[in-house]
Amino acid sequence: CSKKESMKTKNTKIIIAHRGASGYLPEHTLEAKAMAHAMNADFIEQDLVLSKDNIPIVIHDIYLDDVTNVAQIFPDKKRIDGRFYVIDFTFDELKKLQVSERFDPKTGKQVYPNRFPKEKGSFRLHSLQEEIELIQGLNKSTGKNCGIYPEIKAPAFHQKEGKNISEIVLKILANYGYKTKKDSCILQCFDAKELERIRKELESNLFLVQLIEFPEETTQLAYFASYADGIGPWYKQILDKKVNGKWTFTNLVTEAHQFGLRVHPYTFRVDQLGEFESFNELLHTFLIDANVDGVFTDFPDLGVSFLKQN
Ligand code: G3P
Ligand code: CA
Repeated sequence: CSKKESMKTKNTKIIIAHRGASGYLPEHTLEAKAMAHAMNADFIEQDLVLSKDNIPIVIHDIYLDDVTNVAQIFPDKKRIDGRFYVIDFTFDELKKLQVSERFDPKTGKQVYPNRFPKEKGSFRLHSLQEEIELIQGLNKSTGKNCGIYPEIKAPAFHQKEGKNISEIVLKILANYGYKTKKDSCILQCFDAKELERIRKELESNLFLVQLIEFPEETTQLAYFASYADGIGPWYKQILDKKVNGKWTFTNLVTEAHQFGLRVHPYTFRVDQLGEFESFNELLHTFLIDANVDGVFTDFPDLGVSFLKQN
């Protein structure tokens, strides 16, 4: 991991380990995070959902169904919609679950086939605190300065359940020394109103990234720049068309840079190359040709090695 004093002033490109080194190990396990750290990722991502007892759990969905054996261990905790919600379980209960490879409910298949079969392995869920302690411990023992990149998941859902996830997460981050833009922590959220609230009402001084899901949101850069430091668009929102074998791009990156926003598109996987012939071509197209400032990838080793050579 490289040393970065301020992501805003320094013009360094970064590799973000998407759910850890999730191209190799089950997503969001501590094992996948340790691997990403060993691969020299600049930042490691934490998607966050609250438990019943208000502990931020590192997990992508508000549901437990697709990555754990919850249905076997707590069959009675199913909600009327047939799902098992993280928010209905205490931290101690969540620790009893076994984490498996993500299953796609539509196909019934593992998202990354040929890895750990369901029910094999001894992976567990963990809290934000546990992950920060792992990363800070590894930073200490290796001399690296790997950052964290937490995401507030589903703030409106948490609010409906009577919980203020952002306040809880900000307190924990501050307790571990993450308070300003210099502190190797980037906070992200898809919900623009919530990220704006984090800056303006909760008065956070952290580096904030507004995630973008829908194309129409790409026209709101002036608003995003009123509270955020960067955007995290879906990578296709940057691509325009291929002309004589070379990609042209939308104005998104140039305009974001004009607003002073860094650009970190998601998500780059070697098994989902789309129109690209190799992962290197994909990385080159975005990091060099489109001039983005970083990428979310399941394969941080390949991203780090690309940046070393380019
Ligand atoms: O947070 C950016 C990236 O992780 C893409 O979103 O759905 O994987 O959390 P998601
Ligand atoms: Ca995420």
